[in-house]
Amino acid sequence: MAQTLAQWKKAGLWPAHPVGLNLGKSKSTPLARAAEDYANSFRLLRPHADFFVVNVSSPNTPNLRQLQDKAALDEILAALQQIQQAPASANAPPPRPILVKVAPDLSFEALDEILELTGPRHVAGIVATNTTITRPDTSDPQLRRVYAASGGLSGRPLCARSTEIVRHLCRQTRGALPIIGVGGIFNAADAWEKITAGASLVQVYTGMIYEGPSINRQIVNGLRRRLALAQALAHRPALSLFDEPSAGLDPDGVAVITAALRARALAGQSSVVASNDPEFVAGVADRVAMLHQGRCLRVAPLEELLAEVPRRRIVELRVGDEGAQAALTVAVAERVASLPGIRLVSAAGGLVIAELEEDAALSDLVAAADAIGSGVRSLEVRRPDLRECFHALVGRDGEAEPPAPASGGAR
Ligand SMILES: Cc1cc2nc3c(=O)[nH]c(=O)nc-3n(C[C@H](O)[C@H](O)[C@H](O)COP(=O)(O)O)c2cc1C
Repeated sequence: MAQTLAQWKKAGLWPAHPVGLNLGKSKSTPLARAAEDYANSFRLLRPHADFFVVNVSSPNTPNLRQLQDKAALDEILAALQQIQQAPASANAPPPRPILVKVAPDLSFEALDEILELTGPRHVAGIVATNTTITRPDTSDPQLRRVYAASGGLSGRPLCARSTEIVRHLCRQTRGALPIIGVGGIFNAADAWEKITAGASLVQVYTGMIYEGPSINRQIVNGLRRRLALAQALAHRPALSLFDEPSAGLDPDGVAVITAALRARALAGQSSVVASNDPEFVAGVADRVAMLHQGRCLRVAPLEELLAEVPRRRIVELRVGDEGAQAALTVAVAERVASLPGIRLVSAAGGLVIAELEEDAALSDLVAAADAIGSGVRSLEVRRPDLRECFHALVGRDGEAEPPAPASGGAR
C-alpha cells in the first residue's frame, strides 16, 4: 500500500485536499500484539498521508472492539506517539494528526474513558461513529432477514445514535476537540444535524453508495444555503430580502427556510422573497406581488388571491422523455382537449395542464392517459393555487404561455 501511494504521488495523482488513512489491526494478529501491528502500519504509511484514524471500532474484525478498552487503546496510542516523537532525522516525515474512531454502541462512560486519553496521547480528534451491532425493531419480514446477518449496520438506522454520540463528545470536551461526524448522512439536513451537535467535519459512506458522487456537491450547497440564511438572520434585521431561497433545495431544506421565514414574521420582522416557486410562496407569504416581464400585475394578501382562483381541480400530465417530448406533448394535449368536461390550460415542454370543469371528467382523463401508455410519465390532480392565479392575470393581460413567477412577502 505504501508503494502504491508513493507511486500515485509521483505520478501527480495526489488530490489537493488532505488525505486520511484508516488503520486497523490484521485479523490474524492476536489482541495482545495489536499495538505492535498498528505501530508497524503507521511507521510504513506515515509519509504517505496527512492524518490517520485508529480504527478500534469495526465489528467486522473479530474482537477488534475490545481495543476500545482504555488500557488497550492507551497502549496503541502510546506506540504511535513514540514513533512520532522519535528524534528527528533528515528524511523523517513531520508528526501527523491521529484520530480515534469509536463505535456507536459504547456507553457514555466508556466514551469518557477514551476522552481521558486524548490529552496525554495528543489525539487530534474523534471520528464518531463506526457501524453498529444493534438492530432496530421491525415487523417487516424482509428487514428482519437483513438484520439477522452479522456485521455492522450503517446508514439511516445509525443516524440518530451517532449524532447523540457526537453531541456527548462535544459537551464533554466543551467543543475543544475536533469531531468528525459520520453515520447515516444522506443530505445537507443530516450533515447540518451532525454539525449543530458538535461535529467539525462530516464523513459520508453509505450515502455515497445510494446517492452517488454528486452527494458531496449537494451537501456542500445545502450547508452553504443554511449558513447564509443563519448569517443573514443572526442580527434579526427588521427587513430581509431573499432571492429564490427555495431553489435547488431538498424538502428538508425548504422546510428549514419556510420555518425561518415564518418565525421572522411571528417576531414582527419583514421579509421580501422573490420566487418562481408558487408552493413555497403560498407557505411563507402574507402578501403576494405578481410580477411579469418587469411589471407588477397585482399586489394582494395571499388569501385574497387564492379566494379568486376557480375551485376547479387541475390535472398535470408529464409526458415523454427528452427525445419524444415535443410530439407527445401535442398529441396528449389534443387528446385531452377532445374530452368533454375538460379545459386544456397549457401544453409545453412535456407538461400538459388541464382544468376539470366537472369532477366526473377525471375518469375519462385517466382512461385516456392509460390508453396513451408509458408516454404519460405521471398524472397529478391538485387544487388550483397561485399558478392559476398568475395565469388568470397574465391571460387578462393578453400574454401567451408565460412562466409562473410569484413574489411573496412574509409578514
Ligand atoms: C462496507 C463498509 C466498509 C467499511 N469499512 C470501514 C473500515 O475499513 N474502517 C472504518 O473505520 N470504518 C469502516 N466502515 C464504517 C464507515 O466508515 C462509517 O463509519 C459507517 O458506515 C457509518 O457511516 P454511514 O452511515 O455513512 O455508512 C465501513 C462501512 C461499510 C458499510
